[in-house]
Amino acid sequence: MRIRRQAFEQKISKEVEKMVNESRFSMTRDFIQHGDVSVFVHCICVAYMSCVITRVLNIRVNLSALIVGALLHDYFLYDWHDGELCRKVHGFTHPFKACKNAKEDFELSYLEENIIKRHMFPLVPVPPRYREAWVVCLADKICATEETLMGHCKGRKMEFAKELLDKNSIFEED
Ligand SMILES: [Fe+2]
Ligand SMILES: [Fe+2]
Repeated sequence: MRIRRQAFEQKISKEVEKMVNESRFSMTRDFIQHGDVSVFVHCICVAYMSCVITRVLNIRVNLSALIVGALLHDYFLYDWHDGELCRKVHGFTHPFKACKNAKEDFELSYLEENIIKRHMFPLVPVPPRYREAWVVCLADKICATEETLMGHCKGRKMEFAKELLDKNSIFEED
């Protein structure tokens, strides 16, 4: 059965709220990914796009793992535009940094780990192992392309990500 838009929006929203309250996820608001888009908004757009892909192609997935993996796929928690020498290899190394950080804050399943570590295929030339990881890998490329070309993501996913950004700002401590 195809997942309904309302159902996956609710699931993403709940997961983001939990992550903001229980981890370092809110730090991702302070780092730019591509264009004008923060890592926070980018990751929500990728989670949204991943759900849309599974819906359109009618792929059976573990929806919770798909959403958690997508939200944490860029959990590297630094500014990759800061000019530091090690950032030259950011494209190759950040999936592993993201996975390491995520494992410090969450109990990840093997599937969720694979989604995070393999999202940069084919730049990192080890392919994803699971359907969910392939979906996130594709969704990330679609979102990154839109952000790079237009400065933001297109359509409902961007609107939804902004809604969650506003909604979760009330949890800021300072
Ligand atoms: Fe990434
Ligand atoms: Fe990404």
